[in-house]
Amino acid sequence: MVTGNTPETWDRMAVHAGTSWDAAMWGNERSQTVRFLAALHHLDLRGGDTLLDVGCGTGRFSEFLPESVAYTGTDWSKKMLVRAEFEHPGRTFRGEIPWWRYDHVVAIGTFNLEGNTTTQLQLWLESFWKLRTKRSLLLSVLRVGAERCVAFAPSWLAQMGEELSPRSFLVDCSYLPNDAMLVLKR
Ligand SMILES: C[S@@+](CC[C@H](N)C(=O)[O-])C[C@H]1O[C@@H](n2cnc3c(N)ncnc32)[C@H](O)[C@@H]1O
Repeated sequence: MVTGNTPETWDRMAVHAGTSWDAAMWGNERSQTVRFLAALHHLDLRGGDTLLDVGCGTGRFSEFLPESVAYTGTDWSKKMLVRAEFEHPGRTFRGEIPWWRYDHVVAIGTFNLEGNTTTQLQLWLESFWKLRTKRSLLLSVLRVGAERCVAFAPSWLAQMGEELSPRSFLVDCSYLPNDAMLVLKR
């Protein structure tokens, strides 16, 4: 188990966990899969689109995408990136994010562990929406507290949506009992 939220502790998960969902601390395959399918439902993917997966873990989300979508996974854990490259040799994984805009930016569970705050997440949303996203930004977080995790209220996510993309945003709480997904579109 991860005992803190640092690149080093996630490195240990990358090396020791048997499966992608264990490495990401999802507990079971179903919850990871349901989350990925909910994300796919909200992304309007077209052939040739670029997609950046922030906090990609072992990169399993890339398995759910058409080959025609140019996927880039990034993670602060170098060992997650090594494992992701090994498990998904046809996809791109990078420690540094290149300075360009992607059609879609997703962060699925990246900010779930304690230590993350609304202030930090607001700054992340503002910068990635304004500087890195062409069409859609999708954030999946916990909305119900759990041990060593942080929860974000759906009302706060809706407030972020109103501020950043008032004409097109949604908050989805329907796919899992503990999760919430904010989707911004332009
Ligand atoms: C709960 S796992 C989710 C992995 C993947 N998105 C999935 O759903 O299977 C969180 C991942 O985010 C990474 N992470 C956490 N905070 C990060 C940060 N500030 N920048 C980059 N990666 C981060 C961790 O190393 C870990 O691989």
